[in-house]
This record gives sequence, C-alpha cells and structure tokens, in this order.
Amino acid sequence: MSLLIKKFRIKSFKEERPIIEIKDLTITYGNRQIVEKLNLTIQKSEICGLLGPNGAGKSSIYHSIIGLVKPSFGKIIINGIDATHIPTYKRCSEFGISWVPQYGGSWSDLTVYENLMAIAELHIKIKDERAQKINNLIRKFELQNVVNLKSKFLSGGQIRKLTIAMAMVKDTKILILDEPFAALDPQSVRMIQQIIVSLQMFERISVTISDHSSRDLLSCVDNAMILSEGKIVAKGSPQELVKNTKAIEAYFGEGFKF
Ligand SMILES: Nc1ncnc2c1ncn2[C@@H]1O[C@H](COP(=O)(O)OP(=O)(O)OP(=O)(O)O)[C@@H](O)[C@H]1O
Ligand SMILES: [Mg+2]
Repeated sequence: MSLLIKKFRIKSFKEERPIIEIKDLTITYGNRQIVEKLNLTIQKSEICGLLGPNGAGKSSIYHSIIGLVKPSFGKIIINGIDATHIPTYKRCSEFGISWVPQYGGSWSDLTVYENLMAIAELHIKIKDERAQKINNLIRKFELQNVVNLKSKFLSGGQIRKLTIAMAMVKDTKILILDEPFAALDPQSVRMIQQIIVSLQMFERISVTISDHSSRDLLSCVDNAMILSEGKIVAKGSPQELVKNTKAIEAYFGEGFKF
C-alpha cells in the first residue's frame, strides 16, 4: 500500500491543465462573509487536499463547486467552462462530478444495495451492467455483510464506505470527498486511500479531499492547501506544506510530524 502511494507521486502523467479554477470566490451567508476573493486551481489528474480549521469554509467551497451554494462574487470554472450559473445536476452530468458530502449522502430507509441501485438506475442504462457494477462496489468496499441492512442501521464507518461507493457508481472525472476518512478504522482508511490513488493512476480522475485526519490526507495527495480566515494561506506538496510556517500557524500547530 505505502509503496503504491509512494510510486504514484513520481508518475509523470499528471497534466498541467486546470480542471477546476476558482476565481475571486466570495461566499456570504446572511451578513457573514466566509470566504473572501479566494483563488485556487485543481489540475487534471491531481489529488489535491483542502485543509483548514473547523468552520473555515471547506465544505462551503465544495458546495459552491457543485452549485449548492451561490457565490456572492467570483467564478467557478470547470474544464475551461464558466460553470458559475450552471445548475447542479448539469454540472454533475456534463463535467462528471461526484461528491461525497460531509454528512448524510444516503437514503436512510433504503438498504445498502437499494442505495447503490438508486444511483445506478440514474446512470447505467443496461440492467446487467447495473448489477455487475453494484456487486463490484460491494466487494471493493467490503460491504457484503450489510448489503441488506437499511442505511440508518449502519455504523459511521459503514455509512462512509457506502456514500463513497455511491459516488463511484457512475463514471467520474472529478471526485470531491468531504471528510472521507471520518469514522473509518485504520484499515478502512488505507482501503479508501488505495482506491483514490488507483482512480488517479488508472482512470486519470481528479480528486479533491478535505479531512482533519491530516496525516491520512497528506499521505495520498499530490498537493494540499490550507484555508484560514477565508483565504488560502499556504499550499504545496505535503513535504513542503508541513514545513511552511503559515501552515503550521494556521492549522498544523507546532510539533506536527508527518
Ligand atoms: N447554510 C449556511 N447558512 C449559514 N451559515 C453557514 C451555512 N453553511 C455554513 N455556514 C457557516 O459557514 C462557516 C463555514 O462552514 P463550513 O461547513 O464550510 O466549514 P468547514 O471548513 O467545512 O468546517 P468543518 O471542518 O467543521 O467541516 C461556518 O461558520 C458555518 O457555520
Ligand atoms: Mg466541512
């Protein structure tokens, strides 16, 4: 596993071609400005981390990329197209965006299988292919023992695996993961890291991850940025970032080891 993670960092397939460009993004709730004139770029096939203290605005940024939050100023450019005014369903279908929300993300009264099928029915036309895809995901995410359990009875980690699996039902080009490691046991974290890395390696998808398990995040991203007080205060490779004084001050704290 660690070998795979190490190896993918030196691969040369990563392109310098922006897939997501956020320009001067300003997010305001009522009279509270959360994010101010924020600029960030995620390159094609890059795994990019977004770190920042609670309430910094990470989920809000993801919501604005998907179109759930309307910026009060600024632009969201996806794959070179100004998507600021494109509705959510169209952004997800046209740009191949999949999003795993920080909370929820499954229908509580549907079983694991039914949750996956609900998504598959939207995206996969051929019936046999649907069943095949779902069975593969159930195996991949080790959900066999809970396949017929309603999602309201799943443990926190099992729900996390289900919602990540749901995001992978359709062919994805951009994967947005809001706290994917929350509630996961160490082996499940490794499993999700491995899946993220192999998606980048074999399907060239672009991934952005926000999570407070900083070491788990840093060990599977190419680059990461630190959001603090509405701005990106530091960015770089994991090795650069953990030495960056602004990143230490705003997020990691003294003595953080990676
Ligand atoms: N719909 C909303 N209406 C009003 N305030 C909101 C709304 N959504 C988020 N906020 C506020 O915006 C700020 C940023 O929230 P957000 O969820 O984006 O932070 P975060 O960086 O994802 O935090 P965490 O690490 O805890 O998940 C918080 O102060 C939150 O209370
Ligand atoms: Mg959040």
